[in-house]
Amino acid sequence: MPTKVSVYIAVSVDGFIARKNGDIDWLPTGSEDGEDFGYADFMSSIDHIVMGRNTFEKVLTFGGWPYDRKVIMLTSRDLTLSPNLTEKVETLRLSPRELLQEMERRGAKGIYLDGGVTIQRFLREGLVDEMTITTIPILIGEGLPLFGALEKDIKLELIEARSFPNGFVQKKYRTATSQ
Ligand SMILES: NC(=O)c1ccc[n+]([C@@H]2O[C@H](COP(=O)([O-])OP(=O)(O)OC[C@H]3O[C@@H](n4cnc5c(N)ncnc54)[C@H](OP(=O)(O)O)[C@@H]3O)[C@@H](O)[C@H]2O)c1
Repeated sequence: MPTKVSVYIAVSVDGFIARKNGDIDWLPTGSEDGEDFGYADFMSSIDHIVMGRNTFEKVLTFGGWPYDRKVIMLTSRDLTLSPNLTEKVETLRLSPRELLQEMERRGAKGIYLDGGVTIQRFLREGLVDEMTITTIPILIGEGLPLFGALEKDIKLELIEARSFPNGFVQKKYRTATSQ
């Protein structure tokens, strides 16, 4: 069975996933009523997390490793992981297509793809199957974009749209490549 590649990400109304310096201070950390915005359901559908180095470095600042799935960090650099992460994180230098082939070889069922540049690279190769995008009701003016230039349009099919009392709007799309 092919490995499904899914994105689950929060974005400002003006389309940014972080400030220019990588800050995500504008992103609410939780909700008072325990609403998880579909995160647990989403996580139950994936068995690996693939993220870009910048996202990985941000996660390291959270204080405590938040994932119970194997994480693959993409980088072109020779990085040494701290000993407490060597079991949990693997560093790979592969193109999106090579990475997906490797994950299929390993029998991965579902990948959670994270990081703006990383998502854009996979999208450009037509390798993203599904995207859950939660829009946070804020404008931050400038920052790191979720989406970037494309060689050709990618048609999306809206699977689900829902809004939450706190103003979050979540849309789930299937990409045309996976239809
Ligand atoms: N709003 C949200 O929900 C959300 C979610 C995730 C992240 N973020 C934020 O977004 C920021 C990070 O996003 P970002 O757009 O800067 O990018 P990113 O995708 O996290 O990291 C980009 C880096 O990943 C490496 N990379 C990606 N694909 C590669 C490949 N195929 N082969 C080798 N290396 C590859 C490269 O690192 P090298 O330079 O090492 O080669 C590249 O510079 C952070 O501030 C994070 O907090 C926000």
